[in-house]
Amino acid sequence: MNVPVSDSGRKIIIFDTTLRDGEQSPGASMNFQEKMEVAQMLALLGVDVIEAGFPVASEGDFLAVKTISEKVKGPIICGLSRCREVDILRAVEAIKHAEKARVHIFLATSPIHRQYKLKMSPEQVLEHVKKSVAFTRNYCPDVEFSCEDASRTEPDFLASVVETAISAGASTINIPDTVGYAIPSQFSENIRMLINRVPNIDKAILSVHCHNDLGMAVANTLAAVEAGAGQIECTINGIGERAGNCALEEVVMAIRTRSDVFHAHTGIITEKLLAASRLVSGITGLEIPRNKAIVGRNAFAHESGIHQDGMLKNPTTYEIMRPEQVGFVTTDLVLGKHSGRAGLSQRVRKLGYSLTETQMDTLFQAFKSLADRKKEIYNGDIRTLVQQVLRRDVTRQLWTLEDYSCVSGTGKDSTITLSLRLGDAPAVTRKFTAGEGPIDTAFVAICEMTGYDMVCCEYRVHSVTIGHDAQGEVNVAVKYQDKEYRGNAVSTDCIESSIRAFIDAANRILCDI
Ligand code: KIV
Ligand code: ZN
Repeated sequence: MNVPVSDSGRKIIIFDTTLRDGEQSPGASMNFQEKMEVAQMLALLGVDVIEAGFPVASEGDFLAVKTISEKVKGPIICGLSRCREVDILRAVEAIKHAEKARVHIFLATSPIHRQYKLKMSPEQVLEHVKKSVAFTRNYCPDVEFSCEDASRTEPDFLASVVETAISAGASTINIPDTVGYAIPSQFSENIRMLINRVPNIDKAILSVHCHNDLGMAVANTLAAVEAGAGQIECTINGIGERAGNCALEEVVMAIRTRSDVFHAHTGIITEKLLAASRLVSGITGLEIPRNKAIVGRNAFAHESGIHQDGMLKNPTTYEIMRPEQVGFVTTDLVLGKHSGRAGLSQRVRKLGYSLTETQMDTLFQAFKSLADRKKEIYNGDIRTLVQQVLRRDVTRQLWTLEDYSCVSGTGKDSTITLSLRLGDAPAVTRKFTAGEGPIDTAFVAICEMTGYDMVCCEYRVHSVTIGHDAQGEVNVAVKYQDKEYRGNAVSTDCIESSIRAFIDAANRILCDI
């Protein structure tokens, strides 16, 4: 029965780990400025906790966690740490200026990890948990403890670890399915077992953190919520180690749409889900599949005649959620060159973005220039422009494309003339000729001009919206000194978007060295 029931029940805490576990996705690393953008977006989205990084992992991680702690207001800012004093102190140092701060420490508890990784007996693990939680509590009152690989841990031992961590002062206990091994019935049984067996369980919030190796991260998380878990760890678009983590947008919309089952709610402003999803996808270059639940382009598209007929008669015939609840704007009223700044600004807000006046000025200029080349401007175009404007702040002192021209043809060498500017320096113009077509020639030219000997390992192009004048989005991945960097860009001209995408990748290298 699909009858919306108004039963908002208990509040489930949303702990977002896009900037920590999400950033561990192969190829998804973000630079400092990008992490700041994501953190600001997560705060606007209404997440309760932002896991901002793993401060001891690198100077870059430390700086990002520290700056997010200082600048991002609203959510609790959390830093991850192993159960080692040096690591814990580094995390404490990074989060100490947050309005609300948390340190999240973890130790593996499963027999496999105890034997092969830690080489510790169960007694030693218990002792180490006790010591590490108590040590962290001396510096931070909000301590979360994770039993890494909990889903493969013996239930009796797991219960003892949880009891020990709570006695030592942890106020959140996280039960990760680290390797994505759990299935919903077993995972919810684990949660019930802990609630029934651990004597001091009422002194802590029980959290879950599910990986998606068997495609069950969201299902396992929801099963745990039904069993009584109070915090969900998740990432935007489900990005994360290997097959990823529980997808925030899916779990949140499941709780909202089936509040009759879960008797719970979250603090997420669901209308901003699409904007958050597109931002993370744009920054990481990890594309959202068209059929992805909630935020995929097809998530609310009805193709079959029978479905369309039903939808016209009453949308609830084939829709369990309204597209606008997740940020799809129903009236995709096309904007064009006669649209004004006020109309554009209203549409930008409707799409879930909050821009400063200066960013809005830049966006309006970009919108006008696009409108000169493209008759009809859709929401997809506007989202892309907004992301470019947000990224422009990132690339201010970096390489930019001033101008290009290209001569190419079947069986002929391609010649490209490229004008690039580094920061505020005067533009430099050079001409290159190569035999593998204009995109390859552009790539060779950018390697030469930036001085980075990059190897292109991925090149993708797709259209942002519809029509012959649709914008082409190019996503590239390049290897430089054994590290992978992504780049993306959009233009109505695919050669231009390719050039800009390679420049974007070069700028990420520049930021990293
Ligand atoms: O998957 C996992 O176990 C983790 C912990 C650090 C919480 O990411
Ligand atoms: Zn994880």
